[in-house]
Amino acid sequence: MSWDLRALDLLQAGDPTPLIELPVAAPGVRLLAKDESAQPTGSLRHRHARALFRQAVLDGLITRGTPVVEATGGNAAVAQAWFARRLALPYVVVMPGARSEERARPVEELGGECRFVTPPLAIYDEAREVAAEAGGHFLDQFGRAAEHDLADELFAQARPDWVVVGAHTGATSATLGRRARHGAADDLGGLDAPDASDAPDAPGGPGVGERPRVAVADPENSAYFPGWTLDAPDYATGMPSRIEGIGRPRMEAGFRPDLVDLVVPVPDAAGVAAARRIREVTGLAVGASSGTALWAALELVERMRAKGEDGTVVSVIGDAHPRHLATCHDDGWAAGKGLDWRAHRDELLRRTGS
Ligand SMILES: Cc1ncc(COP(=O)(O)O)c(C=O)c1O
Repeated sequence: MSWDLRALDLLQAGDPTPLIELPVAAPGVRLLAKDESAQPTGSLRHRHARALFRQAVLDGLITRGTPVVEATGGNAAVAQAWFARRLALPYVVVMPGARSEERARPVEELGGECRFVTPPLAIYDEAREVAAEAGGHFLDQFGRAAEHDLADELFAQARPDWVVVGAHTGATSATLGRRARHGAADDLGGLDAPDASDAPDAPGGPGVGERPRVAVADPENSAYFPGWTLDAPDYATGMPSRIEGIGRPRMEAGFRPDLVDLVVPVPDAAGVAAARRIREVTGLAVGASSGTALWAALELVERMRAKGEDGTVVSVIGDAHPRHLATCHDDGWAAGKGLDWRAHRDELLRRTGS
């Protein structure tokens, strides 16, 4: 078997991640969390990394021994280092700022190399240079934002009325929106095709002719909510998101407003409060991005309850990691960032049925 075929074999989809039932104070409405923390590297970025490597192998940009380079700070680097090791490829990640053991260690433990540069925005040029000098391939998760396999997997497990995610590169909302409109990758017959409706524990979902809708939960400072609302593809706030893993200072090419049904602005303090609630209910030390998605999902549940509608809402858990215990789950951290999560606590308890 050629190296490329063997690589594609190693890049096949893994086991499906579970759906966790969350309590909700709305009779007839189910709220499910798609738990991406169950991925081998603990986050949704695992799917992005697999899709980027797969596409690069198919395009002939990565083959035996090609050094692989990326510019990124967090979960994406760990997931990419995991796949690079699986394919026995050298991996270099250029991270923003000064060296931090917490960010470097998980990548180095997987055999990757971390380089830190300032100013933060220099990481993209630096990664391009590193790749050029090494005769390697710059994965470029923003420039290439490859759609991944979350949607196919989810729609085989459940038939939700709404799926709620955050947006960073935009790949997840784009793949969900495309599959919700046009059906599975290998089945353009749409979601009413028998394989989806026959899924063993598929909760009752949209009726014939209806399709799942996709909502993006957007944190403060992010360009996606104003850019989507104003139909302005070049909208920029120029301000970084405080919610790790989601929100961007400008509209990214991979974010497809035309494939998204709704963008919900979520206060950062509400996202933090909701992340804490997820931990209380599931025991998972999720990041604030998962809380942000949950807050928006609860807004949709509330809307369905008020209209007397039945249905299913799926909210994505992006990651869980003990390091979050020192961020969104820590009172001192939240106070230092001026995030008054307690202001949202009563509302959350009311909406989640306690
Ligand atoms: C809750 C949540 N939704 C979605 C995303 C995905 O972002 P994207 O696919 O836009 O890069 C993330 C981050 O990976 C996340 O944590």
